[in-house]
Amino acid sequence: MTTRTYPVALITGDGIGPELVESALTVLDVVTEQHDITLEKTFLAGGAEAYRQSGAALSAEAVETVRISAATLKGPVGLPDVRMPDGTEAGLLGGILRNGLDLYANVRPIRLLPGVESKLRVEAGAIDYVIVRENTEGLYAARGKGVATSSAVADTLLVTRAGVERVARRAFEIARGRAGAPGDGGRRVTCIDKANVLRSMYFFRSVFLEVAADYPEIEAECLYVDAAAQALVLQPEHFDVIVTESMFGDILSDLGGGTVGGVAFCPGGNIGDHCAYFEPIHGSAPAIAGLDRANPISQILAAAMMLDHLGEQAAGDAVRQAVAAASAAGETRVDHTGAAIDGTKAVTEAIVRQLRIVRPLQ
Ligand code: IPM
Ligand code: MN
Repeated sequence: MTTRTYPVALITGDGIGPELVESALTVLDVVTEQHDITLEKTFLAGGAEAYRQSGAALSAEAVETVRISAATLKGPVGLPDVRMPDGTEAGLLGGILRNGLDLYANVRPIRLLPGVESKLRVEAGAIDYVIVRENTEGLYAARGKGVATSSAVADTLLVTRAGVERVARRAFEIARGRAGAPGDGGRRVTCIDKANVLRSMYFFRSVFLEVAADYPEIEAECLYVDAAAQALVLQPEHFDVIVTESMFGDILSDLGGGTVGGVAFCPGGNIGDHCAYFEPIHGSAPAIAGLDRANPISQILAAAMMLDHLGEQAAGDAVRQAVAAASAAGETRVDHTGAAIDGTKAVTEAIVRQLRIVRPLQ
């Protein structure tokens, strides 16, 4: 077999970021060797610490490196005390990377691993859906652009036809590649909106339904966001793929994380037509940074999504299988705060051990 080589960029980030990325790289070293993959790595400074030191959360050259890399793996960023003059956090890269590189689909799988006890009374397998969060417009398009006087502030929610079309299409394509919802096996895409109140949301829904007509084999349904929040708790097995506006997707992905043991189990991809980066969906938890307590699973699963994106799905599957096996064996337990009971390194080693176990081909 010949070696496949990919240039990848790495942004280790702030707080627990460096130890999470180190853990993911340990796993990547093993799995890439097993699958004859070479990752040519470029490390980039980015986040709140980078902003504090240089005045830029990510330099223009670093953005360019992300753009031309085959994919980027990013740790969590942000430090609560590093702020912009307007009060928002300075070290966040969402505006720079998601809008800057037009990474319009924020793909967030929510999956309950075997061995993780959900607060809901469900077994592993019962929660397995993907949130596709629109990533370049919606309410967060107002990022850094709100209109303010000393007594009033307004942020605008933007929905464009082209924006909804492309993200809805992405959601249907993802549904095509899946086995359907855990509850009934139905392939469906659920549009989550607030079309009963906001005109922008009615437009989002209308364009979604137009796109749905091109995918007759996949059920298209629409749900208001308040009802959806309840349904994700009461009937998570109903969901297969969800498409939604940016702020709703932000909130609902943390809600979903809360049903599968916490956001520290949840990876996400920010994917455009030409480049992409992968990250945990949570923050940088500076309070536990450097203490070997952070749960690295979100970062490791983000690395698996990156492998899929590179076209190396067998390697991605191997990582997901190793994570599930280590979790099922009780080797990746977390406490009530979400911290890794046995430590970041021990969890990483347990996953590497599982990777090294030769499994029969399936
Ligand atoms: C996320 C985060 C970011 C977002 C913040 C930190 C800007 O919460 O990726 O979910 O809201 O997009
Ligand atoms: Mn969030």
